[in-house]
Amino acid sequence: MAKSRFIFMCLECGTSHERHMGRCPDCGTFNSLKEHRLGTASSEPTPRLAGESATAVSITQIEAREEDRMAIGMGEVDRVLGGGLVPGCGILLSGEPGVGKSTLLLQIAQAISSTGNRFLYITGEESAAQVRLRADRIGASSEELWLLPECDVEAIEQQILSIRPAVVGIDSIQTIRWEQIPAGAGGVVQVREVTSRLLALARREGIPMLMVGHVTKDGGVAGPRALEHMVDAVLQFEGERGHALRVLRGLKNRFGSTEEVGIFEMRSDGLIEVENPSGLLLGDRRHSSPGSAAAAVLEGSRPLLLEIQALVTPAAHGAPARKVSGIDSGRLSMLAAVLEKRLGIPLGGCDIHANAVGGVKLRGTAGDLALAAAILSSFHDRALPRDVIFAGEVGLLGEIRPVPGTRQRLEEAKRLGFQAACLAPGSLEGLPLDGMRIHETQELADLAKRFVE
Ligand SMILES: Nc1ncnc2c1ncn2[C@@H]1O[C@H](COP(=O)(O)OP(=O)(O)OP(=O)(O)O)[C@@H](O)[C@H]1O
Ligand SMILES: [Mg+2]
Repeated sequence: MAKSRFIFMCLECGTSHERHMGRCPDCGTFNSLKEHRLGTASSEPTPRLAGESATAVSITQIEAREEDRMAIGMGEVDRVLGGGLVPGCGILLSGEPGVGKSTLLLQIAQAISSTGNRFLYITGEESAAQVRLRADRIGASSEELWLLPECDVEAIEQQILSIRPAVVGIDSIQTIRWEQIPAGAGGVVQVREVTSRLLALARREGIPMLMVGHVTKDGGVAGPRALEHMVDAVLQFEGERGHALRVLRGLKNRFGSTEEVGIFEMRSDGLIEVENPSGLLLGDRRHSSPGSAAAAVLEGSRPLLLEIQALVTPAAHGAPARKVSGIDSGRLSMLAAVLEKRLGIPLGGCDIHANAVGGVKLRGTAGDLALAAAILSSFHDRALPRDVIFAGEVGLLGEIRPVPGTRQRLEEAKRLGFQAACLAPGSLEGLPLDGMRIHETQELADLAKRFVE
């Protein structure tokens, strides 16, 4: 049942907060928070679709079919969603500024509307003309793609009810405001209340809703982090500045796995789906330079081959530097410490720069062996053989451990012309080997002996 609620607004800076405090956390002014009453509380929308009963019934009497999912028609997005949009679902599409969120949302809108399903694209940041220009650049739009430049949540609700779209997209949720809340758009309370209202409408009407949310480098106080528990799925769009590769990752998904990722290339004509990203990533690899190793990792269920580079130089001053791009700095420090301890090489007096080429982020531990090989190769200034792929985890004792999915990794490596693989003992478990030499490597000392010493 709807009930009254209070928020506390700072008279000095205009931000709103959910509880009273003696000092405004945003501007630091004392005694500036003033109580403000909201008409209805909507932060916990009733999760009922239209026509669903308010009384408890047996689950066997509920009608819901997997076929009710609406495939978007972009394979990489459907893969991440687990097959498509579920009626009434709320999806948050987050990412750093400029990564391509609006482009992705507009391409989704074009794909859905091209099949005759009406898509309502609500733009709170750009004018309808700007959206039209982008749409013309990235593809053909159908008549069923409707645009609404609007920031007021009540006006948006009215439009949704009057034009009854099959899917709604909002760019971005931070720009939408509710007049009842006096603070400016983008504040935590505003964003939460507005999202809650829109999600309630989506559930009631069974309309899937895609909401773009901005994330700042530090996670953003007013950013979508606060919303993650409210929505059904959180998709994060990632990419490195200056690189074309974009990865769509499910951080949360109530209707599918969070293991799958979608991979795209950002081009002037929009996002192109990339089914086999390894070729793109290894395309310009300088095979025979010291400090370069090829790693076979898994992104979701797909193998991905990428180049790991390391540069080891005498420390310039004081403490040795550990600089990374696309690689976890903790993992690099750990590997450097293990290499120093187990092989006796003086990395404590060296700066190490490490880089996953192509703008991807190296996750998990399967890239350890490639990173260790790249560090050794740079330290000894000896290039690794160009046709070897590395896959394995390195432990604190210097031991190499097997990683799952060896078959997929090796098949992908073979497809891209690699002729040998360096793996932990026992990785193969009876897999047929046709055409690939396997170097089983028990520990880091074996790796160094075989390739660089
Ligand atoms: N004319 C163009 N040609 C090529 N690439 C372009 C062009 N215009 C935009 N881009 C690419 O699109 C990216 C911006 O995409 P988009 O506006 O979808 O990002 P966004 O995540 O919505 O950004 P914001 O956070 O500012 O809303 C740019 O960084 C650039 O890579
Ligand atoms: Mg945008």
